[in-house]
Amino acid sequence: MELIDLRSDTVTKPTPEMRAAMAAAEVGDDVYGEDPTVNELEAVAAHMTGKAAALFVSSGTMGNVAAMMAHTQRGAEVICGYQSHVFRNEQGQLAQLCGVQAHPLPEAANGTLPLDLVAGAIQGDDQHHPITSVLALENTQNMCGGVPLAVDYMRAAGSLARAHGLKLHVDGARLFNAAVALNVSAAELVADADSVTFCLSKGLAAPAGSVLCCHDEFIKLAPRARNALVGGVAQSGTTAAAGLVALRSMVERLADDHAHAQQLAHGLAAIAGVKLDPRAVATNMVYFDLDAHVAQTDAQIMARLREQGVLIDFLYAPFSRGFRAVTHCWITAPMVERTLAAMRHVLAT
Ligand SMILES: Cc1ncc(COP(=O)(O)O)c(C=O)c1O
Repeated sequence: MELIDLRSDTVTKPTPEMRAAMAAAEVGDDVYGEDPTVNELEAVAAHMTGKAAALFVSSGTMGNVAAMMAHTQRGAEVICGYQSHVFRNEQGQLAQLCGVQAHPLPEAANGTLPLDLVAGAIQGDDQHHPITSVLALENTQNMCGGVPLAVDYMRAAGSLARAHGLKLHVDGARLFNAAVALNVSAAELVADADSVTFCLSKGLAAPAGSVLCCHDEFIKLAPRARNALVGGVAQSGTTAAAGLVALRSMVERLADDHAHAQQLAHGLAAIAGVKLDPRAVATNMVYFDLDAHVAQTDAQIMARLREQGVLIDFLYAPFSRGFRAVTHCWITAPMVERTLAAMRHVLAT
């Protein structure tokens, strides 16, 4: 049976064009800065995000950690969201690897960190306090429903950060989903950011890799951080080649994934027992809950869907019963219909 894998957009496999580009890639030693394919990828990524420089890294997590290492000193703190990847899903990297503390704040329903809360969280200049050094935002905000944060908000957050001498880092694992959903360029979204990480390996379907894009002076620090994270990879041009194909051919088509997410959300919302407001779905993520009267456990629901060939994910927060289905380039409209039929079957029997 053909599996319909909606657990995440990280399950995407490289396209035939990517595989061909990887096989043909010209490579060199990237730690010496001599891999032409990596250099080209970094130039394209910097251009697309409107930044002076870029650094190819193995993963989104590595990009975020390298940024935090470069932006902070021991004893600093980073303001971020409770639902952010930086806070929840990077094994406490701020403490564990950077020697700094997270200062998490609750996101609003639309995924933003309310700027009055951010302003109130910035520590005064007192020897008892950690030095608030970074404001970290996530765009799209995954755990708040894959919501895109708008240009106006990003600009206002940048102004606030600048006014207080903070660096603004954007975890843009799905930055291009946000840009496509909002019909703006990625560069506009991160114009005020000091650094941004985006992933090639999620909706853009490259097999691995992310890019950390930033200002010139910062990029001198980032390779040191990457190296400390054991992230210097010599002939990484083979992977970068797939990334170039991703940036050149996979960005605009993200709109298809968003349309499939709408199809899925509207279909799920019409099934008795599913709690979901399709208006909350803005990109490729569909989070939903089940009515309290649904007697089956989450594990049973997921196992029975799997029997029907459908894989979805389960997340504990911010919902009591939070299921997640993510559309991506290997998911078609007929697969969405099959998913809906499977869900109707599982909840009806
Ligand atoms: C919002 C966000 N940031 C960062 C990451 C980390 O990316 P990676 O798995 O490449 O480390 C993820 C992964 O899904 C993510 O959802």
